[in-house]
Amino acid sequence: MDRLYYGGDYNPEHWSPEVWDEDLKLMAEASVSMVTVGIFSWAQVEPRPGEYDFGWFDTVMDKLAAGGVDACLATMTASPPPWLSQRHPEILPVRVDGTRLSAGARQQFCPSSPVYREHAARLVEQVATRYAGHPALKMWHIGNEFGCHIRACYCDVSAAAFRDWLRDRYQSIEALNAAWSTTFWSQRYGDWAEIEPPRVAPTFPNPAQQLDYHRFSSDASLGCYLTEREVLSRVTPGVPVTTNFVGLVQKALDWHSWTPHEDVVSLDSYPDPYDPRGHVEAAFAYDLVRSTKDGQPWLLLEQAPSAVNWRTRNSPKPPGAMRLGSWQAVARGAAAVLFFQWRQTAGGAEKFHSAMVPHGGRDTRAYREVADLGRELASVPQLAGSRVKADVAILHDWNSWWALELDSHPSDDLRQLDAHLAHYAPLFDANVTCDVVRPTRELSGYKLVVVPNLYLMDAGVAENLRSYVAGGGHLVVSFFSGIVDENDRAYLGGYPAPLRDVLGLKVDEFWPLPEGGSIGLSVDGTGASATIWSEWVETEGASVVATFGDGELAGRPGVTRNTFGDGVAWYLATRPDAATLRALLDRITAEAGVSPVLPGLPEGVQAVVRHGAEGQYLFLLNHGAEAVTVTLPSPAPDLLTDPGRPTEAVLLAPRGVAVLLGSFT
Ligand code: GLA
Repeated sequence: MDRLYYGGDYNPEHWSPEVWDEDLKLMAEASVSMVTVGIFSWAQVEPRPGEYDFGWFDTVMDKLAAGGVDACLATMTASPPPWLSQRHPEILPVRVDGTRLSAGARQQFCPSSPVYREHAARLVEQVATRYAGHPALKMWHIGNEFGCHIRACYCDVSAAAFRDWLRDRYQSIEALNAAWSTTFWSQRYGDWAEIEPPRVAPTFPNPAQQLDYHRFSSDASLGCYLTEREVLSRVTPGVPVTTNFVGLVQKALDWHSWTPHEDVVSLDSYPDPYDPRGHVEAAFAYDLVRSTKDGQPWLLLEQAPSAVNWRTRNSPKPPGAMRLGSWQAVARGAAAVLFFQWRQTAGGAEKFHSAMVPHGGRDTRAYREVADLGRELASVPQLAGSRVKADVAILHDWNSWWALELDSHPSDDLRQLDAHLAHYAPLFDANVTCDVVRPTRELSGYKLVVVPNLYLMDAGVAENLRSYVAGGGHLVVSFFSGIVDENDRAYLGGYPAPLRDVLGLKVDEFWPLPEGGSIGLSVDGTGASATIWSEWVETEGASVVATFGDGELAGRPGVTRNTFGDGVAWYLATRPDAATLRALLDRITAEAGVSPVLPGLPEGVQAVVRHGAEGQYLFLLNHGAEAVTVTLPSPAPDLLTDPGRPTEAVLLAPRGVAVLLGSFT
């Protein structure tokens, strides 16, 4: 990446060739350097089976090349044309309740369908062959947001594919019966043919079967992706390949199993402008997507210039918010800022979704802000290859997420992303940079590892955490972690069995709180409160930092600290209120030797550093409603306002941004 790429989804098929000429002019004016093109073009380029019409698309590609705009060229397979499902209705996906979905929207394909995959691969072969070596071709964009609308399909084709997947995983039906605990409720299988997807059943379907269906469904979509990737690798080796993950964080796909097959990872991000803390959730997603490739720059492949159309109420982004959000992505490692979409369509379901060129055309606030940001990003190409570094890791695992949110658990209030954000937000507010990593990753490079609700923990992960702490690491584990193995079978002998020695305690019983309930917590004698959960903890060497303040558990441990080997392991038996969790994490980070990017920043200012060849880039982003002044540790120039003049203090307007070059950490 030699610059920060800027642009958006470009859907020229909605417009006449005269508009394409105006598009290219405006793209130049707005410093657009990359467009994602062709995402929904299948019906236009293959109007009848095997009959291709690429002429118009050639013109578009040539115009892009002539205009110096790179194409992130889509494989065009995201929305099959009506003729395909009419000829092969069996490609249409089926919901868990047996309803077969219709064509007429998009993503109307069963990911396991060999018919869909075959037709998609045939089209990709055509597209790749035609545009191999084209000067506009920079990168491939496979499909679009896999798993967005169709998270899982329950049709008979999927059922057969599931059985194959299970045969691969378990080898024998006995092994499957053991993994799925099928002695329970007389569920024992005698033959693979008896197994079905976990469709709607009289009551809770087998949890291990549900968990495997999540795994299988992620793999089924990955299978579609790999089918296309194989064609591209063969026809255009050397052209990088990506696909856009659904933001903010997507439950349906295990990104960790996808990203090894991508050359660069991409995310779509649509925080709600009505949500004053939407940027925190977005930051979490950016830290996660960056960490899936161990810090390699990633692409913000879509965001909205202003409002979306798909929430029940859609706020525009107020002036400056789009710029601030875009810089936040760059601060957290993005090497591209793209939008959905270039030109707002007059018809179709997304006609009220904002675009870089709105219905009102060039003379609009949104376009002016888009063009200004384009020029600004183009002025700092040196940022593109720099990287974010973090001392803190938060563990995230899709298997555990899927298992945590299954039915018939002690409480329905356990939600993985809530748990993540509850622990991430105080670190974010303290300007402590985090990676969000898979639990199997080597952790010794981190000073602190935070484990919110890692319910499913296989023996390898438990060992990873044990050796991390034994080697001197600082660990924070929240409740209901380390409860089951990879088959959702509870560890016996006192929770959380695989970590009891590390944490120096045993959990005897779970005491989830009633809906909306809270419980008192006494931290070093100071009263606080907590929500969601409490539990009966027996210490086995850990010291008690906080006790429950009221109810049946009054006086019993709520937060503990244990030394283990050369390290320290903290345990949170509840979800302390935000201020208390912040105070605890401030204490824990200080003990672990973790520093904020800059100490003492005004409330609402986000600070992140990217490390580059010529120095460190400090990003300061003001999410507050007031202008603030930030004094720098040493004079540094703001690359966005006056790159030649070092300054000692930066004045940040509300939604203001500064990018300083210097040495800060
Ligand atoms: C997703 C899709 C786009 C568009 C946007 C609208 O990100 O990939 O095609 O529908 O949502 O927000």
